[in-house]
Amino acid sequence: MINTIEWVNGEVKIIDQTQLPQKLEYIYCKDVETLREAISSLKVRGAPALGIAGAFGVVLGTQNSSARDYADFKKEIETLINYLGSSRPTAVNLFWSLKRMKEYAEKNKNKKIEEIKTILKKEAFKIIQEDKICNRRIGKIGASLLEDGETILTHCNAGALATADYGTALGIIYKAKEEGKRIKVYVDETRPLLQGARLTTWELLQEGIEIILICDNMAGEVMREKKIDKVLVGADRVAANGDTANKIGTYTLAVLAKENDIPFYVACPFSSIDLSLPSGKAIPIEQRDSAEVTEGLGKRIAPTGIKVYNPAFDITPAKYITAIITEKGIFRPPFFKRSV
Ligand code: MRU
Repeated sequence: MINTIEWVNGEVKIIDQTQLPQKLEYIYCKDVETLREAISSLKVRGAPALGIAGAFGVVLGTQNSSARDYADFKKEIETLINYLGSSRPTAVNLFWSLKRMKEYAEKNKNKKIEEIKTILKKEAFKIIQEDKICNRRIGKIGASLLEDGETILTHCNAGALATADYGTALGIIYKAKEEGKRIKVYVDETRPLLQGARLTTWELLQEGIEIILICDNMAGEVMREKKIDKVLVGADRVAANGDTANKIGTYTLAVLAKENDIPFYVACPFSSIDLSLPSGKAIPIEQRDSAEVTEGLGKRIAPTGIKVYNPAFDITPAKYITAIITEKGIFRPPFFKRSV
């Protein structure tokens, strides 16, 4: 499996996902500014990978700190957290990991600054390690829901490229394949940035999975033609009632799945579940540049001066979700309200 994001000799090494599938290129983030830019421009993307990037960002930003006491060091961490946290608002994993790093520093505040730096690096390595284990658990648990010969529809990229490796929704497909099940996958292209057409296809092809690429607006027809057995997607943030923020277009798929009696599954680590929010109403939706809509892969496709609305995510109400698959098990309605 590919390593989406790693710590190499004091730098954060990431696959530049904006270059895929044409080129497999790595960029090395030597400073927090480069890393934040990589996050904002989706060179690194996907909720769990953003969580890892956030943790490495704290390490990167503090490794050369000359703070003399913990009070100064803490201020530096807080500044870093605000800076990194302002890059992408929807995926809760980013805020989860930043908070975890801050709390870990606080827990060790009586140690020497150099020691705290080492401890923070260890914590970031722990986060990446935990993600790898977590994805395999989600894969194992979720694969129990897939039958040999089934066809899955997925949206965006919830695979190895969106995590440390293996993926969440795609990890389930990889595990089902490892178990000997023949699974076919319809991949939504996922406008505007085409994570499905560029990234999910690239990943699934490497794993030898049979795939069929469709435009987003074909999903309803393929469901009506009874080509889809299950829909399986990732999540950027899940509220306590199960309302789920994921890549724009997910809500449409969920409504279509309900209409066509197709089970709709969300797969995510528990760190994507935001129990502080009772419902999806409070999930912030990232608004992105209009050029992503007026252009397609760098080529202008709409008239100049056109008004554009470009929400990067949507909220799928819990009533459309059959189950949410996490490393802690499969949650069904009422989801996390009473079960946690
Ligand atoms: O804008 P992106 O590419 O970061 O959006 C990613 C998604 O919507 C994924 O489905 C989600 O983060 C789950 S990743 C396991």
